Amino acid sequence: MFSTSLPGGIWRLGDLTVTRFGYGAMQLAGPGVMGPPADHDSALAVLREVVDLGITHIDTSDAYGPRVTNQLIREALHPYPESLHIVTKVGSTRDRQGGWPPAREPENLRRFVYENLENLGLEVLDLVNLRLGNAEGPQPGSLAEPFETLVELQQQGLIRHLGVSTVTAEQVAEAQAIAPIACVQNMYNLAYRQDDELIDMLAEEGIAYVPYFPLGGFSPLQSSALSTVAARLDATPMSVALAWLLQRSPNILLIPGTSSAAHLRENVAGAGTLALRRGDRRAEQDRPLAGIRRPNSS
Ligand SMILES: NC(=O)c1ccc[n+]([C@@H]2O[C@H](COP(=O)([O-])OP(=O)(O)OC[C@H]3O[C@@H](n4cnc5c(N)ncnc54)[C@H](OP(=O)(O)O)[C@@H]3O)[C@@H](O)[C@H]2O)c1
Repeated sequence: MFSTSLPGGIWRLGDLTVTRFGYGAMQLAGPGVMGPPADHDSALAVLREVVDLGITHIDTSDAYGPRVTNQLIREALHPYPESLHIVTKVGSTRDRQGGWPPAREPENLRRFVYENLENLGLEVLDLVNLRLGNAEGPQPGSLAEPFETLVELQQQGLIRHLGVSTVTAEQVAEAQAIAPIACVQNMYNLAYRQDDELIDMLAEEGIAYVPYFPLGGFSPLQSSALSTVAARLDATPMSVALAWLLQRSPNILLIPGTSSAAHLRENVAGAGTLALRRGDRRAEQDRPLAGIRRPNSS
């Protein structure tokens, strides 16, 4: 039986056991998530530290770089430890300006799955998220055609589990009517809580909710309320943000990104210390954090 001392413990993602504290690999590529990292060896060191810390869930995509992040993962960690599960996503590509145009036609999705397999050096992908929406967030509309294409690839044995990303609750329900999903990956953090209802609904169904931008993404979270709470707890603001997500709901899996091994260690240690202290501090910690929502969040 797999166990961990990482904050948050473990979660069953379909038939895979993962640590709730995972790692998001997007920050390993170059500026704007394009091209190689400034320091190739440091990027490899971050990935090896991920595994050394006992993290068993890495989130990635061939769109990062493009291909750069997956190739770094392969170089640093292949052959992979049996306990490690790599989650990838398909549904957008990259243009010359670094944009993320959608690419959800069946032929593109099939190509992306084969390219992820090749770049990661795998015969089967553990979990593939269908990325919908755009930079503004989820967009309404049917996901049937692209999702059915991934279901076909799953039936062919190329994908173990499916998930959906940047989706509305209606699109989650539409996907579930077609095939089981193991996770939903949407934007959510202390300051942006549009998905509160969806998180609770998925928790009841035993489906993971994986927030992207858990630390605020390209503009890391900054707020005087967060800094005040962090100072009072003798913790960093980032570790408070991660510990808050872990306590928000048991089905939340963390994939914080960093290009720094020191930040990675700091985040794991900080969230762990706060999780241990949480019993005593619960009321004190939650009250001020409730005021951090951004004005545009509902
Ligand atoms: N499904 C989707 O559409 C989608 C979209 C975006 C992202 N994602 C996934 O979600 C993951 C997480 O998102 P993200 O990496 O963009 O954003 P994030 O985890 O919210 O934040 C990453 C940023 O926080 C900084 N950071 C991390 N730890 C820190 C610390 N201890 N002190 C100071 N700064 C710190 C990082 O800088 P340093 O590098 O300097 O540490 C980086 O700038 C990605 O890696 C990716 O796998 C998915």
